Amino acid sequence: MPVVLGIETSCDETGVGIVADGILLGDALATSMDEHARFGGVVPEIAARAHLHAVTPMVRHALDRAGISYGDIDAVAATAGPGLATAVQVGLAAGKAYALALGVPLYGVHHLAGHAAVDTLEHGPLPDRCVALIVSGGHTSLLLLGDLARDPVIHLGDTVDDAAGEAFDKVARLLGLPYPGGPAIDRIAQNGNPDAITFPRPMTSPHDPPYQFSFSGLKTAVARWIEKHGDQPVPVADVAASFQEAVADTLTQKAIAACRDHHADTLLLVGGVAANIRVRHLAEQRAATAGVRLRVPSPRLCTDNGAMIAAVGDLLVRANVAPDRLDLSADPSAVL
Ligand code: KG4
Ligand code: ZN
Repeated sequence: MPVVLGIETSCDETGVGIVADGILLGDALATSMDEHARFGGVVPEIAARAHLHAVTPMVRHALDRAGISYGDIDAVAATAGPGLATAVQVGLAAGKAYALALGVPLYGVHHLAGHAAVDTLEHGPLPDRCVALIVSGGHTSLLLLGDLARDPVIHLGDTVDDAAGEAFDKVARLLGLPYPGGPAIDRIAQNGNPDAITFPRPMTSPHDPPYQFSFSGLKTAVARWIEKHGDQPVPVADVAASFQEAVADTLTQKAIAACRDHHADTLLLVGGVAANIRVRHLAEQRAATAGVRLRVPSPRLCTDNGAMIAAVGDLLVRANVAPDRLDLSADPSAVL
């Protein structure tokens, strides 16, 4: 049973996970989130330095939690992209160093494959075919997945501008909520009325491309609403809840339509925004109505972590896929 060490450093989380045969043995996470808060977004140089500090202690923690030692590692997987260039490079360089020092193979892993694969750690192997909605700070994509280790991923649609998580972060900023905005909106929206303001559901008219997204106009609609009502105190909870409802409605409508149109009986909902309570609830309701099986990881595995990268490494090792060479380059804008 090969043991795979996974390292994730594409943004502001230094994640390490250890997986063997589809089972998460241990993981550890450090974040530089607080260091970015005063800038309102992730500063790549700060993130990269933080990864450099955190990566070896996180590997040590994950090993301790798994109750194993360096010599038990059979393969190393590290995010090779997409992500912030310097941040990705730190984790990939660390992965290469561990692989070289331990004399084990290295796998460069696509970050989005990690978001999808992490679900297998909690819910077992994926079906032969499923629709995946990956919603994070950098991506909003509807994909048709086969065998993650072997089959090419089919892109049904992506966002044409902002990612859903990016919209959460920008709207939170407009509302004076702290970074990262997604969790802040999620929290405050629980006290708000989702029907207080009807924000647009972008790209949902019959003439629009069915699986593409656009969130930049929605963010502008929120900004306009706040401007227009500038003489009164902003009802932050209501604006947050109404914005969140527009995102949740748009995402889930399109995901369920993709399942129906592609005869997929399983929908995989992953990425940081899949941690959102309202997005999860609405997806559950709509999946149940449509007779679609919904798979969503626990919130802590929706946001960036090391287990997701180890999960892909484990799938690749078990499928006997050839490892990468140690001169593998990071690819900050890698496409899946
Ligand atoms: O997957 P992730 O951790 O990193 C990327 O690959 O981008 O996603 C981070 C994004 C951020 O935009 C964050 O605001 C959003 O996911 N996010 C959420 C929630 N938790 C994280 N958005 C809405 N509700 C949440 N609970
Ligand atoms: Zn991510």
